[in-house]
Amino acid sequence: MKTRTLAIIKPDAVSMGYASTISDRIIKEGFIILGTKQIKMSLSQSEGFYTVHIGKPFFEELTRFMSSGPCIVLALEKENAVDSWREVIGATNPKEADEGTIRKEFAKNVGENAVHGSDSDENATQEIAFFFSEEELNGDI
Ligand code: RTP
Ligand code: MG
Repeated sequence: MKTRTLAIIKPDAVSMGYASTISDRIIKEGFIILGTKQIKMSLSQSEGFYTVHIGKPFFEELTRFMSSGPCIVLALEKENAVDSWREVIGATNPKEADEGTIRKEFAKNVGENAVHGSDSDENATQEIAFFFSEEELNGDI
């Protein structure tokens, strides 16, 4: 079944000029881009997006980093989109990421790791709705 996932090209990758290469990879992997936009998150928006990580030791560093510069958010569709995208991006820590994954190629470290991927269908739905209206994704506006 075709499902959706949210991808983010994070501020480190955007500032290093990797966005178009990563977008090309998304297409080559067979994802349909339902919606995409470049945004600069405020700190409070970043905290709102990452509520699942409140209380973790990296929460402040993560939310500061994600609001430090422009990022590109993408709503993607594919068969088994969540797992498929997570395979393409690789492990959270680039040192542990497999050859050929986006994080292996582009991530600096475990915090500044180039891309985001939703971790479940339920979270994908929530995360996509955080950045996109359903009308935007269906092309009705
Ligand atoms: P993401 O949500 O960005 O796709 O990454 P993930 O599922 O692989 O990792 P997750 O555990 O959800 O962590 C979210 C993001 O927090 C930062 N992080 N820093 N310093 C650290 O030990 C640490 N651990 C996680 C990363 O930016 C990670 O992608
Ligand atoms: Mg995660």
